[in-house]
Amino acid sequence: MSVHVLNHPLLEHKLSVLRDKNTGTRDFRAAVSEIAMLMCYEATRDLPTKDVKVETPLAIADCKQIAGKKIALVPILRAGLGMVDGVLAMIPAAKVGHIGLYRDPETLNPVEYYCKLPADIEERVIMVVDPMLATGGSASAALQFIKDRGGKNIIMMNIIAAPEGIARLEKEHPDVEIYVAAVDEKLNDHCYILPGLGDAGDRIFGTK
Ligand code: PRP
Ligand code: URA
Repeated sequence: MSVHVLNHPLLEHKLSVLRDKNTGTRDFRAAVSEIAMLMCYEATRDLPTKDVKVETPLAIADCKQIAGKKIALVPILRAGLGMVDGVLAMIPAAKVGHIGLYRDPETLNPVEYYCKLPADIEERVIMVVDPMLATGGSASAALQFIKDRGGKNIIMMNIIAAPEGIARLEKEHPDVEIYVAAVDEKLNDHCYILPGLGDAGDRIFGTK
């Protein structure tokens, strides 16, 4: 597995907005979406292209277009939904699947409540999005659901990751490439990321 930490001044600036406890729901949601768009730009850097000829109003131009495999975007509900608009702004034709998981507050184990993926998932490059990779339990379960349904070519995109979550995915899903905007220090006693940004879902949807 490769872990790509995307360092860019725009990402770092927007990340500081997310981390700030005084950032309200509207600005938080906007920053999550913008970060997802910027991360998508980097995470798709190696997508294969094919040569095409395009007729401009004046001449024939040699151009490139995305070749071969099409993309499926899969947000992990609920916080992953906050990253969907940003990615779709870059890849409007992507199909979107959904995996519903929440972390049981007592056991911290992921509990599945929904899974609906595009029918041809095995033929697509699959981009799984969730702002937070903490213990890695939710991400690992989501990746397994996708693989159980035939998904093979998978990219994971998280805004903030804990070293513990990265280590878990490296062990359980070594074939998956991970793209993150930051790797934080550690988890606290409740498995929240430190310094992190708090509860991503609650901050995106304003539920706390
Ligand atoms: C958050 C986050 C991840 C998960 C990360 O979701 O969006 O899905 O926790 O934690 P883990 O790596 O330890 O599994 P949460 O369970 O709070 O659900 P929500 O998105 O519905 O708020
Ligand atoms: N889920 C969140 O939303 N935040 C964390 O820090 C960890 C899990």
